[in-house]
Amino acid sequence: QTIENGSFEWSAPSNIALVKYWGKKANQIPANPSISFTLKNCKTITKLAFEKKNISTSLDVTHEFSFDLLFEGKPKEDFKPKIQKFFERIEQYLPFLKDYHFTIDTQNTFPHSSGIASSASGMAALAMNLMSLEKALHPEMTEDYFYQKASFLARLGSGSACRSVKGEVVAWGQQANINGTSDEFGIEFPYTIHDNFKNYQDTILLVDKGEKQVSSTVGHDLMHNHPFAERRFAQAHENLDKLISIFENGNLEAFIEIIESEALTLHAMMMTSMPYFILMKPNTLEIINKIWNFRKETKIPICFTLDAGANVHVLYPQNVIEKVLQFIQKELIGYCQNAQYICDEIGMGAMQL
Ligand code: PMV
Repeated sequence: QTIENGSFEWSAPSNIALVKYWGKKANQIPANPSISFTLKNCKTITKLAFEKKNISTSLDVTHEFSFDLLFEGKPKEDFKPKIQKFFERIEQYLPFLKDYHFTIDTQNTFPHSSGIASSASGMAALAMNLMSLEKALHPEMTEDYFYQKASFLARLGSGSACRSVKGEVVAWGQQANINGTSDEFGIEFPYTIHDNFKNYQDTILLVDKGEKQVSSTVGHDLMHNHPFAERRFAQAHENLDKLISIFENGNLEAFIEIIESEALTLHAMMMTSMPYFILMKPNTLEIINKIWNFRKETKIPICFTLDAGANVHVLYPQNVIEKVLQFIQKELIGYCQNAQYICDEIGMGAMQL
């Protein structure tokens, strides 16, 4: 099959980890398994246009990667090295990459520099598009293979991106008690999920929209020679094991305990690495305390989680949405930058547009 030119367009969502990935080996292999809720509203939309290079014209004889990058319609030079590196990593799995000139036209549904990492949704959206071209060149490919390889490629862009491809709850990293898990790609959680988790809500409070002082790449690296690393990696396996039965029986109290402990453990790893660092802000802690008080007083099962930043993800079941949003508006938005927050919930994964 030869294809001269064309375009594809995909959206891919962000995801929020419940059991956190923090620490990796070579080739983006995670040091411990993780699991996440796929989000619905926070996503990247990427159009990939491609045109076969004319090898006979002098411009193309170098046979290097060739692509233009547009972010929200405008050329964006500072993202290019990341894409270049991604292409270098995945070329052995997509041998056509140097045969085409690509135009990557990308935008996010969430405000940029909101402190919401766009690397997961962005890398997943690009991986989906590249797989669409791979499938066009190899039409016999099965759907299962398509999604598995898309997740595999996304992982090479940004580890957690492999959890943004397919499914509402996605596990990544080998775990003895979850069938089919792999270090190389994310899989849809294969067991029963209780109705309590249906349309589970994630309201993201934008506490600090600034650039992170420490990138997650540096953070992962600091888990090498970290005094608590081995225990932490073992704990992730234990927490994932516990979540298997919690997803089945719908025990929200037990769920909350694991989710909050995982968030604080992630930040504890940052505070106990060498060099050490703190990504939470005073308002992060204010919000956590307010959430704890609200839960104690109302018995409403809301909890928080954090990713590698100061923003707080407030997680709760759909049936308490009104009371929780009232609480957030009354008591929490004062701690957000410009009173900004984003209402999101569990979603299905990437979609072709
Ligand atoms: O995918 P990365 O390398 O940006 O790492 C993400 C790490 C956390 O968001 C902090 C945790 C996770 O599992 O998503």
